[in-house]
Parts: sequence; C-alpha cells; structure tokens
Amino acid sequence: MGKVWLCGKEYPNIWLAPMAGDGDRAFRLICREHGAGYLCSEMVSAKALCYGDKKTPALARITGAESPMAVQIFGSEPEFMARGASIVIENAKADGVLPSAIDINMGCPVHKVVSNGEGSALMKNVALIEKIVSAVARAINIPVTVKMRLGWDAGSINVVEAAKAAEAGGAAAVCVHARTRAQMYSPGVDFSHVAKVKAALGIPVIANGDIFSAHDALEAMKKTGCDGVAIARGALGNPWIFEEIAAAEAGREYTPPTKDERVRVALRQLEYSIEDKGERVAVVESRRYLGRYLKGMSGATKVRELLCRASSAAEIRKILAPLYEG
Ligand SMILES: Cc1cc2nc3c(=O)[nH]c(=O)nc-3n(C[C@H](O)[C@H](O)[C@H](O)COP(=O)(O)O)c2cc1C
Repeated sequence: MGKVWLCGKEYPNIWLAPMAGDGDRAFRLICREHGAGYLCSEMVSAKALCYGDKKTPALARITGAESPMAVQIFGSEPEFMARGASIVIENAKADGVLPSAIDINMGCPVHKVVSNGEGSALMKNVALIEKIVSAVARAINIPVTVKMRLGWDAGSINVVEAAKAAEAGGAAAVCVHARTRAQMYSPGVDFSHVAKVKAALGIPVIANGDIFSAHDALEAMKKTGCDGVAIARGALGNPWIFEEIAAAEAGREYTPPTKDERVRVALRQLEYSIEDKGERVAVVESRRYLGRYLKGMSGATKVRELLCRASSAAEIRKILAPLYEG
C-alpha cells in the first residue's frame, strides 16, 4: 500500500471519505478492520462547537482504534473555524487520542450548508479559502487538510486555484471530489481536473469520487497521479473494498466475502453502534445500513422489510439468522 506524508508523518493512502449520517464510529471501525488506512469523522459544525452545543463534541471524538483519523469541521468564518479546531484538539487531549489532522469541508453541497456560505459555497471565494486554512493552521499544531470539489458549477471550475489557496494557507494535503457542487452526486466524475491539481501542488493530493472497486481506485490514481484515494459510497455495505484495493495493489487475488461473512459484519457494525450510541438509537439507525450488506442475496427484500420493523437487537439477530449458512 502506498503512503501519504502529512507534515513529515507517514500515513496509508487508502482513505475512508467523510460521510455525515453514514460514516459514524461503528462504520469507521468496520472499515478500519477491513483495511481503511485513514479515517475521517462526519462533518462537525465549528459554530456548534464554539457555542457549546451539547451533542456536537461527541461527533468529533476519536478512539484509539480509529487513529489515524482526521476530524472534519465546517463553517465559513475564519475565527469560528480556528476556535472550533482548537476545541476539537482540547477535547481530544482530554480523551488522550489526538486526530491526525483537522480537515476543512469545502465540498458539502446541501442547501442548508451552502446557503450559509459554508461547504462547497467556499469554492466561490478563493481568498476566503486561504484565510480559513491559515487561521486554522495558526490555531493548532497538527496538520490541516482540505476536502473540496471541482468548483461551484461547470462554468466556474476553479479547483486548481482553490487548492493553491489552501496550500498557501498552510494545508498539508487536499482531497478533491471530482464533481462540481451543481453535480451533487450525479454519475460521472472528471479526474482530469484532479490531475491538474496534483501537477500544480507540492502537497499530497487525494482523489475522490465514484470509486466502487479496486479497478476504479487504481484507474483514479493512474489518471490523476494522486498520492491516494478516498472512498465514500463504495464502502457502504462493502467495507471489503479496502481489502480488494490492497490485494490489487499487491498483485494478489481477492476473494469476495461469503454470505455468512457479510451477515456477520453487518451484525458487528450493529454491536459497535450499540456500544457507542445505546441499543435504542443503534436499532433505529441500523435500518440505514443492514440492508446494504444483503445486496444480491436471495430473500433479501423480505428480510429488509422485517428489519425495518425490528425494535431490538435480539429481534434483528433473529431475522438475520436464517441467512447464515454455517
Ligand atoms: C451520505 C453521505 C454523507 C456525506 N457527508 C460528507 C461529509 O460530512 N463531509 C464531506 O466532506 N463529504 C461528505 N460526503 C461526500 C463524500 O465524502 C464523497 O466526497 C462523495 O460521496 C464522493 O465520493 P464517493 O463517490 O466515493 O461516494 C458525503 C457523502 C455521502 C454519500
């Protein structure tokens, strides 16, 4: 597996991309167990941290098993971003596990976020990008990374300029999701712009977007010359993608998981979620992901329906039991 250097420290180059709602601790731990070398938290509001919101700090917490991992913050005001990053570090010091980096979100496309000038709206203001990155970099003494899109829309692709501004502000690496904000998540990424970013920057560049197999990962690296790749949706229900990529990089054959293994890992994610959030919340949230592990299995549709109505972990285990062969 290749390496990425962040401020003189070496990290694996196959990353789990941040996913609000899906990339929680339980899922991150599952991905780590299957070879995700570097993890990232769900996005955390810098303002919510600054205003002392009760629930937000938990989103930014890291456990030892998750390290190396970045904590991602979002916002648009340099002072709040710097203070938010400092709060993450203060809390992490108290917990005893520091993040590997603070990542800054410049890619979120949702209306609620961009209407505040945050997330991918920052792509419209390159001067502000540099100010935010340098304010955060001055406030903390761990690396600052940035995750961005190609630009706001097809008529305003400015990722090279934006990434250079991030580098000038002191970013240690940039991850580029090869779509514009206007594209949201629609199919089709354009890695040619990511290749231009890689050629223009001295810091590591990570390619992201539509990587659903080892073949996609190797192609993304070939097309962009990037130092690594970050995977989001391709890992949902398929954390084995990290093992598949490692096998392809090493020229080893990859054996996909058996049905038993898929059900076992789905249940393990539920167990981790119960440990983290308690059974009531974990059972409700499991409706988002358990079904993904059953893709292509016979009888999966019926099982998914039953899972949606399950109200306890014991019930979920009972519903999934017939899918075990062993
Ligand atoms: C459910 C979901 C939540 C996401 N949340 C975040 C987030 O919190 N921060 C972020 O930078 N990107 C977020 N993204 C974007 C992903 O990190 C990634 O850039 C995008 O999905 C493209 O990669 P993929 O094709 O591998 O999914 C999210 C994507 C999804 C599907």
